[in-house]
Amino acid sequence: MERQVTGIGIGLRYDLATELLERQPGTVSWVEIHPENYLDRGGRYLEMLETARRDWPVVTHGLTTCLGAPEPFDSDYLHQLRDFLSEIEAPWHSEHLCLGAVDDRFFHDLLPLPFTEEAANLASQRLTEVRDLIDKPLALENVSYYAPQGTDGLAEADFVVEVLGRADAKLLLDVNNIYVNGRNFGFDPKAYIDKIPVDRVVQIHVAGHFVREDGLRIDTHGEAVPDDVYALLDYTLRRVGPVPVLLERDNNIPPLDELLAEVDELWTIYRNATEADDAG
Ligand SMILES: [Fe+2]
Repeated sequence: MERQVTGIGIGLRYDLATELLERQPGTVSWVEIHPENYLDRGGRYLEMLETARRDWPVVTHGLTTCLGAPEPFDSDYLHQLRDFLSEIEAPWHSEHLCLGAVDDRFFHDLLPLPFTEEAANLASQRLTEVRDLIDKPLALENVSYYAPQGTDGLAEADFVVEVLGRADAKLLLDVNNIYVNGRNFGFDPKAYIDKIPVDRVVQIHVAGHFVREDGLRIDTHGEAVPDDVYALLDYTLRRVGPVPVLLERDNNIPPLDELLAEVDELWTIYRNATEADDAG
């Protein structure tokens, strides 16, 4: 039977996995993995996954199947992914709403799509295609980006809503990405959250980011979550209700207790925001 994903989770990254799995901290109620790290692999990775699955529901978040790519997807990979998701009983899977490759060249960074009707149409077709192949609910994740968009496209939030509607898709809402983009490009992150159809949100990401000397914010997943992102999470949860929240930390990983202190802070925000929702 599928286990319920609820409350606060953490990304099961290799650098913190051993200690996390040994200590099995009760403050974390689920974990997220990148399936690319487990496919075609045995040994320590699969052991880690089995141990994690004994105690927690495991949610998957892909890095390589960018939903806006114009090239055909790698169907062998997607079939392999389908079998893996079925085996670990993933409740849903998520991928980024971006470009990841052009002409068979993969980029390390996730490149934004143009926020146009044409790109929305293509991304929604791709999303439907991937969802059919993996045979699981599929959520798209909003990304951060650093090049300004032209003036003739949609606003970012309207673009995301357009793709969600066309593909009848779920959303992995990354509040740090919205905050970073809002500060870098001068829009109000709360106004973005207000546009999101709440019934589509299955998962939330929070993370920290780096602030460059010139003020540009860069989504590094390598810093502690700042107060403004906690505040935006609180605002978001009051709007969307008790959606599971994941702490993403991929770089510059601190001692586990520091991360668990952030997990505790997330629980406080989650409980306050969602209990208010129950009462109201
Ligand atoms: Fe994210």
